[in-house]
Parts: sequence; structure tokens; C-alpha cells
Amino acid sequence: METKVYRLDENNLDLEKIKEAAHVINRGGTVVLPTETVYGLGADGLNSEAVKKIFIAKGRPQDNPLIMHVCKKDISEYAKNIPQVAYKLIDKFWPGPLTLILDKADIIPKETSAGLDTIGIRMPRNSVALKLIEMSGRAIAAPSANLSGKPSPTEMKRCVEDLNGKVDIILGGNESEIGLESTIVDCTGDRLCILRPGAITLDMIKEFDDQVYIDPAILKNVTDDFKPKAPGMKYRHYAPKAKMKIICGEEKKTIEKIKEIVQNYIDANLRVGIMTCDEHINEYDVQCKISLGSNKNLEEISKNLFETLRSFDELDVDIIISEGFEEKGIGLALMNRLKKAAGYDIEFV
Ligand code: TXA
Ligand code: MG
Repeated sequence: METKVYRLDENNLDLEKIKEAAHVINRGGTVVLPTETVYGLGADGLNSEAVKKIFIAKGRPQDNPLIMHVCKKDISEYAKNIPQVAYKLIDKFWPGPLTLILDKADIIPKETSAGLDTIGIRMPRNSVALKLIEMSGRAIAAPSANLSGKPSPTEMKRCVEDLNGKVDIILGGNESEIGLESTIVDCTGDRLCILRPGAITLDMIKEFDDQVYIDPAILKNVTDDFKPKAPGMKYRHYAPKAKMKIICGEEKKTIEKIKEIVQNYIDANLRVGIMTCDEHINEYDVQCKISLGSNKNLEEISKNLFETLRSFDELDVDIIISEGFEEKGIGLALMNRLKKAAGYDIEFV
């Protein structure tokens, strides 16, 4: 299949290109689109044949439901029994990086919700995404635009690497503004429940429900006996090709421990990469070291995480040693993705 690749200026939209992509959606095709979180792989969410193409292109397990992307706050067509608190969250955080889990309307095919009675819905704020949804007149079902298991793409070139020849159109924009996937909040229970942490943090949600809690499955290594409510969270994810290990703790001790471990690997003739921050990068004497940004700016570190994991793949390292970061604010989401990428190989010093 031939894939058309268009790079768009997010501040000066080429409406002809977006219209062409909207027609593809209308005809049941697949389109990669930029969003403010990560790039998505979209299709008409009400067309089961179109949705199947997403699963095939990504190699995605069938039991992992998709998020519906809308361009307006009225979602009565797609969800039912919507609680008051959901309207309040929508009012405050949409358009933006927040997905709500609600009871699904009957028109949503089982392929989109992977057989569940609920559906995830969000309104992104990226200008290309909003225009595409608006021009297509559909809700667009879209998982992240990576091959299943790989880190989510935050740059257009990664979507091309993963999906060229497997989708109809790739619409590129800037690098993703946030770089981690949306916060997922389940609104179907008595209390709100965070199923996946993201840029909309626990504290922000607390203002709307002081009883909100985090799905216990995302705070620890998920094994078969502990099933997360977001089916996707159980799969090995965000995984670079190399093995990965996280060292967490007080600054000086962390640096010392990393130096010690690195030396052991080098002695064993392995190629080691270090993932660190601006403040510490000069401490390490290895060839492959990449800073995620300043450790005083967890938004910046988060934004660079997935792209850095993919860069390490290109450097062909055998093992990546990463520093850990503070689990406050967006740091909870950052560490959630980092731990999954490392298969929960984490050492505290
Ligand atoms: O930021 C994002 O959310 C990005 C962009 C493209 O919008 N999308 C994204 O989709 O991350 P995906 O498919 O990679 O991750 C969706 C996650 C999966 O873990 C899935 O299991 C969960 O959302 N999910 C979707 N529908 C659900 C539902 N009804 N109940 C529980 N979890 C659900
Ligand atoms: Mg994904």
C-alpha cells in the first residue's frame, strides 16, 4: 500500500491536505495525525471495518480498546449515563490531554471498544487533529501511532518508520507538545479512578472529586493476577530494543551507583547508554549518554522521553541505565512509562 506523507505547518493549516485526509477517513481508510500528547493512528470510530485496519497496521492485540477523538464537548452521541463530574472535567480540561471512560452508546461498534461496555473519549487540542475531525464529521478512533510495543511516536519521522506502507496518509506536524499519552479517568464508578497518569495530574482531578484514586495496577508491576482496568496497561510497552534499568534515590548516591554499574557492564564488553539530566550529564564518562533535559523541569523530561528511547535504539546499545525522577505532578506519568520501558527493573539507592 502506498502511504502519502504530508508535513503540515500547525500554525498555518493546509486545508486541502486535511480535506484529502478527511475523505480518506470518510471512505474507511487510515490516517496518522499529530496530537498534543503523541501521534495517533486514526480511522472512523463508527466504522468497524475501518477500525480493524488500525489493529492490523499496529499489530495491536484485539482486546485493547481505542480512544474516540472528538472536536466538540457535546458527546451525547457516543456516551450515555454521563455523570455531572464528567461534564465538569470536560468543561475544565477539553480540548486537552484528558480521556474520559464512560458508558458507551450503542452506535459504537464492539471493534472500537474491544467488546467493553465503556468507551474512552477525548477532545485533543492540536490544530491539525481538531481540523481533521471537524472536516471528516466523524469521531476518530486513534491509538498511538507506533507499532505495538514500541515507544509512542512524538515525531513524524517515527510514524513514517513504523507505519509507512501500512496506512493511507501520514499527516505530520511539530514534535508533540506533551510527549506522554493522555491521562485516562474512569467516570463510571462511585469515585473517579485514574487508569493511566498523564499531564492532567492527580491534584488537578482532585479538585473535582476529592475521593479520586489511582488504579493500584499502575503503581506496581502488573502480573497475571493483577488486572488493570485499562487493558492496554498490561502489555510490555514503550520498550526500547536494549535492556533497561532504572536507578532511583538521592542524587549523589544515584550517580555513584550508575558509575559502578556502568563500569561492570563495560568490563563485560557491553555497550552501555546512560539516560540522565542536564545537571548530571558531565558526571558520566561514556560515549552514549543522552540528557532528557533539566531535572527541575519534569515537563521537559517527559516530552523528550519516548524520542530518547528511540534514539538509543539507533545507537545500538546493549543496555540503557536511566536515572529515576520525582513522582510528583507529571512525574508520576513519566515514571510510569519509564518503569514499563524498563520492565520494572528498578533499584533504589
Ligand atoms: O494521548 C492519547 O491518549 C493518545 C493520543 C493518540 O490521543 N492515544 C493513546 O491511545 O494513547 P492508546 O490506544 O495507545 O492507549 C489507550 C489506552 C489503552 O491502555 C487502553 O487499554 C485504554 O486506553 N482504554 C481505552 N478504552 C478503554 C476503556 N473503555 N476502558 C479502559 N481502558 C481503556
Ligand atoms: Mg499506545
